Amino acid sequence: MTNYDAGDVLTVYGGTPLNGELRVRGAKNLVSKAMVAALLGETPSRLYDVPAISDVAVVTGLLELHGVKVTNPSDGEFVFDTSDVESANVDEINVHAGSSRIPILFCGPLLHRLGHAFIPDLGGCNIGGRPIDFHIQALREFGAVVDKSEKGMDITAPDGLKGAKLELPYPSVGATEQILLTAVRAEGVTELRNAAVEPEIIDLICVLQKMGAIIKVHTDRVIEIQGVPRLVGYSHRPIPDRIEAASWAAAALATRGDVFVKGARQVDMMTFLNLYTTVGGAFEIDDTPGEGGIRFWHPGGELKAVAMETDVHPGFMTDWQQPMVVALTQARGLSIVHETVYERRLGYTAALNQMGATIQTYRECLGGTPCRFGRRNFMHSAVIAGPSKLHAADLVIPDLRAGFSHLIAALAAEGTSRVYGVKLIQRGYEDFEGKLNALGAHVELG
Ligand code: EPU
Repeated sequence: MTNYDAGDVLTVYGGTPLNGELRVRGAKNLVSKAMVAALLGETPSRLYDVPAISDVAVVTGLLELHGVKVTNPSDGEFVFDTSDVESANVDEINVHAGSSRIPILFCGPLLHRLGHAFIPDLGGCNIGGRPIDFHIQALREFGAVVDKSEKGMDITAPDGLKGAKLELPYPSVGATEQILLTAVRAEGVTELRNAAVEPEIIDLICVLQKMGAIIKVHTDRVIEIQGVPRLVGYSHRPIPDRIEAASWAAAALATRGDVFVKGARQVDMMTFLNLYTTVGGAFEIDDTPGEGGIRFWHPGGELKAVAMETDVHPGFMTDWQQPMVVALTQARGLSIVHETVYERRLGYTAALNQMGATIQTYRECLGGTPCRFGRRNFMHSAVIAGPSKLHAADLVIPDLRAGFSHLIAALAAEGTSRVYGVKLIQRGYEDFEGKLNALGAHVELG
């Protein structure tokens, strides 16, 4: 473990319940998209409650490369002035290659503003193949010409972008956002079938509507967008980060603690709350305007094993899976987890086994309906036998959500763990070290 600098290693003195309060801000998976949407507006946009996470820094860097003036007049408030949008230098864009998946969403806005776009090879968490075929197919149906070059993708629209009738093979969040960001200013009507309808997508639609877009969300995953010739800037307060909220909720359960997550909203977390209760966790909703949140705690006694399956909204989010699995190592009996969104999102369970958990992964679709990964050699189901006493270990963080789970496991375990690569967690969790300290955890960097 010699390749990590001191700021990238967290020493965790485990075994202390997390107790206290923290606040979640705007959802990472909306904020970054709203920042890209600002490119479409002819006047400045203003976004509030933006968390200080590295994904925001990556998108800010990309916007600035394209001539957007980004200012930060007060804590969490960002203003995007798009009056001088310009082409960016390919080599400069490539500096951001590999650090995030957001650049792919620049396609539509850049095509509308500049007539061409260059997208570097993409990064993001390594949790499956993460192809972009749905994105490319949709862009082509809008009339874009996509050429793969050595460093990334060159995209042009010689005849402009025109509305299209589209149907996604799977309700992909990113591809739905791609289509929304392209269709709003394409000529004519776009009809999208099998769209993703996550709350972050609905919030992006709210942003676009504020900008002047005309978007109808029908039942059964059908979205209809009527293209308009110009859009203006928006002013928006994003939905709270329900992935971060659930991560702290799982941490409270795994450490037998009691955590008030200020800003968390019941409406975005109903499916999570159902499972939390079934496992034996307790929660209480405080809906005081501006001050509210959700208190999550371990009510004592034993947790119960469950069978669960991840799915697109309104199912149980794939990003909630890893933190909850750590809590399930403390439940009595056999829990079953079927991951149906990403084919390789259970690799992190090997580290939990090193710490004393008993988790076996399977190729079969266990416990639920067969999914598209069945019989395809992907270890995408798990059986967790509990309760297990977790002990400290040296852990290397593989990706964002699994990384936070490693952290929860280290907090729940007896003894001193060293967690390597914690900077990855900063992609999606604002000031997690400060929050851990506020909750009484014994952690130190270095
Ligand atoms: N897919 C394809 N082809 C495509 C696009 C997607 O096959 O062109 C597949 C993916 O491989 C995956 C499934 O469709 O198996 C779903 O992927 P989706 O496109 O919905 O995911 P995404 O847009 O890349 C976003 C979040 C993820 C979150 C998923 C699912 C952002 C920046 N990322 O990813 O969040 O897990 O939706 O809700 O919004 C995270 O925050 O840690 C994270 C990974």
